[in-house]
Amino acid sequence: MSKPVQQQLVDAALAIRNQAYAPYSKFLVGAAVLTDDGTIITGTNVENASYGLTICAERVAAAAAVAAGHRKIKAVAVATSGGASPCGACRQFLAEFGGAMDVLLVDADKPDKIKTMSLAELLPEQFHLEN
Ligand code: THU
Repeated sequence: MSKPVQQQLVDAALAIRNQAYAPYSKFLVGAAVLTDDGTIITGTNVENASYGLTICAERVAAAAAVAAGHRKIKAVAVATSGGASPCGACRQFLAEFGGAMDVLLVDADKPDKIKTMSLAELLPEQFHLEN
């Protein structure tokens, strides 16, 4: 991924974070996925009064990408206060669309410091259904 594209992905995650619906936790999360044809698609966390129904930003972004016809994700940027990394469920969900994708952790308070990891590092021994 080139530096300009990486920056676009980070900027998209930071921008969409402002749309997060998180009235309960107040923890705003923005996610942006980069598909194999270079499209960037975003998502935020969406909470619910029935707390367990909350959807994480990463899954919203990945699901939106799939709904738009994409099947392969090359990278994901996640923007939070503190630069949190994706939860376990999101790691597995993302693995469906690219087990080795880059994961860019963005601290919204220090957006110039980006931590880049691979999903394989974050989730070794991923589950894939073999037919
Ligand atoms: N959250 C995400 O959006 N992504 C994660 O990977 C972990 C947590 C959201 C869910 C909830 O709205 C808030 O962060 C606090 O858990």
